[in-house]
Amino acid sequence: MNTIFEPITIKSVTIPNRLGMPPMCQYSAQNGLANNWHLVHYGTRATGGIGLIIVEATGVSPEGRITPYDLGIWDDSHVEPLTKITQFIHSQGAVAAIQLAHAGRKASHDAPVNGGKQLGTHNGGWETVAPSPIPFDPNEIKPKALTTTEIEKIIFDFREAAKRALAAGFKIIEIHAAHGYLVHQFLSPLTNVRTDEFGGSFENRSRLLLQIVDAVQEVWPLDLPLFVRLSATDWKENGWDLAETIQLCQILKNKGVDLIDCSSGGNILDANMEIKPLYQVVFSEAIRKTGIKTAAVGLITKSEQIVKILENNQADIVLIGRELLRNPYFALYIDEKNRPQWPVQYLRAK
Ligand SMILES: Cc1cc2nc3c(=O)[nH]c(=O)nc-3n(C[C@H](O)[C@H](O)[C@H](O)COP(=O)(O)O)c2cc1C
Repeated sequence: MNTIFEPITIKSVTIPNRLGMPPMCQYSAQNGLANNWHLVHYGTRATGGIGLIIVEATGVSPEGRITPYDLGIWDDSHVEPLTKITQFIHSQGAVAAIQLAHAGRKASHDAPVNGGKQLGTHNGGWETVAPSPIPFDPNEIKPKALTTTEIEKIIFDFREAAKRALAAGFKIIEIHAAHGYLVHQFLSPLTNVRTDEFGGSFENRSRLLLQIVDAVQEVWPLDLPLFVRLSATDWKENGWDLAETIQLCQILKNKGVDLIDCSSGGNILDANMEIKPLYQVVFSEAIRKTGIKTAAVGLITKSEQIVKILENNQADIVLIGRELLRNPYFALYIDEKNRPQWPVQYLRAK
């Protein structure tokens, strides 16, 4: 039986407990470069005893960013500021992971704090790309359908990004294939109506993700873990669903992917989602039955919920998102044996 503060070893990496911070965009970078905000933000959750810190969606190319303020990893200059973050996270005993991302048709938007509207080429945005020229919102500019040569370039960008992630000291890569971003757009028949080898059948729609996994594995050491974040369902009839997700996870497992971060939705504007506490845990439980490790995420805010998820074998790791934005020291207050040590600097406050 797993408990919150039991370490988990995946390949050569030991995560000190079962608590993780999921990737959460901060929209605080300029030219993709991490800065003091990112160092303090991620560092604080590491001092707070969270075992796994997954750095936010980080663009493998400038046009792969959701906003002009996303982190990037398309240039060697991005490595040094990310290295400061991984070094600090590791100095606190936590493990640093990074989510590699391409936003596809959901790229080129303003930051949420500015209203989050699509940006055109006239006001700081860029032309977006997708499997098919279908916009996320009918009021938005249509994305350009990618040619096969352009798809190959994106696969190459993920490979180069993985090399830089290694150089920056990350111990885990998570490929972002969820939430309606580029890879998910390829997986779903609602957003991918291509007639070439990247569209149509399940096999063809999965091809981009599988080729990205291959490309990353060419440069990512065999003894370091590789995660994939998936949306287990589009929450829409005739869309990507749990059955296809499970089929895909079996293939990913055989390819040597270590863990599926089990999310859902984000691909379709009018999806029928019912968001309530623990609403995605069932996906994690079903995917875990294929034999691959999973992380559960989504409206999990209480230690009792985490204990139950682990005791019921519904996930190997539990990710706590917005609760960690409210309370970075969540883990230090969990009343269980072996909980993380308070930072020695703070002991007088305990
Ligand atoms: C501010 C914010 C930014 C987010 N950015 C990302 C991201 O970069 N990549 C991603 O896969 N999910 C992102 N998400 C989704 C979270 O990783 C998580 O799945 C979601 O918030 C549900 O977990 P929670 O209910 O514990 O917050 C973001 C969520 C928030 C609140």
